[in-house]
Amino acid sequence: MNISIIGSGYVGLVTGSCLASQGFNVLCCDTDTEKISNLKNGLLPIYEPGLSELLKNCLATGHMRFTSDLADTIQHSDILFVTVNTPAMEDNSCNLEHIYKVAEEIAYNMDCYKVIVHKSTVPVGTGRKVKKLVSDILAGRTSELQFDIVSNPEFLREGSAINDFMNPDRIVIGSDSPRAVNILKEVYTFQLEKGTPVLETGIETAEMIKYASNAFLAAKISFMNEISNICELCGADGIIVSKGMGLDTRIGPRFLDPGPGFGGSCFPKDIKALSHMADLLGYDARFTKCIMETNTCQKVRMIRKIEKAVGSLQNKVITILGLSFKPETDDIRESPSISIIEGLLEKKAIIKAYDPQAMENMKKMYSQHQIKYCSNPYEACENSNCITLLTAWQEFSCLDFKLLRSIVNSPIFIDLRNISNPSLVRSYGFYYEGIGR
Ligand code: UDX
Repeated sequence: MNISIIGSGYVGLVTGSCLASQGFNVLCCDTDTEKISNLKNGLLPIYEPGLSELLKNCLATGHMRFTSDLADTIQHSDILFVTVNTPAMEDNSCNLEHIYKVAEEIAYNMDCYKVIVHKSTVPVGTGRKVKKLVSDILAGRTSELQFDIVSNPEFLREGSAINDFMNPDRIVIGSDSPRAVNILKEVYTFQLEKGTPVLETGIETAEMIKYASNAFLAAKISFMNEISNICELCGADGIIVSKGMGLDTRIGPRFLDPGPGFGGSCFPKDIKALSHMADLLGYDARFTKCIMETNTCQKVRMIRKIEKAVGSLQNKVITILGLSFKPETDDIRESPSISIIEGLLEKKAIIKAYDPQAMENMKKMYSQHQIKYCSNPYEACENSNCITLLTAWQEFSCLDFKLLRSIVNSPIFIDLRNISNPSLVRSYGFYYEGIGR
């Protein structure tokens, strides 16, 4: 079966590579010609564990091909996965420029029945608007061509996206058309055979499931961050509180780790878009807005935590271990490290940083002049006045504290991910602070 992927970003590449690995003939398109020529040679624009190997295999078998020709991509298959980016705008709305442009191109270039599958996160009602847009253009072409719209949101987590695609918790298929639903089920046969639940809904409901899921997960984090802040003030241990809560099966243990605030390309953007959407509908989504406010305050609180431990930050060397918004990705979008570093620089601190994957991306935002990028954690900790652990990379969970103690200026270790053992860190003479404890 042929599959077309429109938009070769993170979602498109994972979706395309995983489908190609199952034997589909996938054609991936992107307007960025340089990106496409790199992809043809197996060079990815992002770091995602396992994706490079998967892509190379699919290129070798010929199941995965790349192009910048959108018309060709539209004609390649009846199933068009739309995976273009839908970034946040200044007013918190979603920029749907690419979604509508692609819809127009589909309408002008389609030559037979098409299923237009929205995988990108789009505000509720977008599928319906695209349906009208395509219908209007087709009417102008005096064409009898038919098409259907499906909302099939992705729930991929960066760092484990391949596994999430191959073994999803659920597949949501939102459409008015039984024909389109059946085509999608055929594509997803390999997951459905494993017993993956599939939820068939209307288009709007599927679009909302994505926003509601992300907002709920982010709410869990903001709530836990708030509880852990209260724990710090009253002498309770936030980690054990989280464990105690998570043992209640109605709550569940996941997404209850306190931290410096959530980041990434999805949560902040989607929560802002959800409250914007509600505003447009005349509803003040106060709880949803509060999730973001709590997250913003959390990052400010982290700067204060460092300041409290170090004293005046002026000319103090602050080491940042971890720049990406979470481990196993080079993505720094909305990473708490950005606003924390900004706050520290404002207070005239000297920043040394190390991240196993994300330094190249961070260099586009802060130059070598503003942050001293180091080639390993120990170089970053030399002459440090405070080591701040910001991302839970595996290599930061087994640091050599004896060595660290011998190279730092002042032994202060702040673990904003609670991945180190406080008594071990203290046994080497460090002042230790975690989060929520
Ligand atoms: C998220 C959703 O999980 C995924 O379903 C959706 O499709 C895209 O957005 P992702 O952005 O890759 O995926 O990151 P995720 O693993 O969900 O983590 C998001 C943020 O929450 C990170 O900054 C992480 O550090 C933070 N987090 C997560 C916590 O602070 N505490 C937790 O307990 C869990």
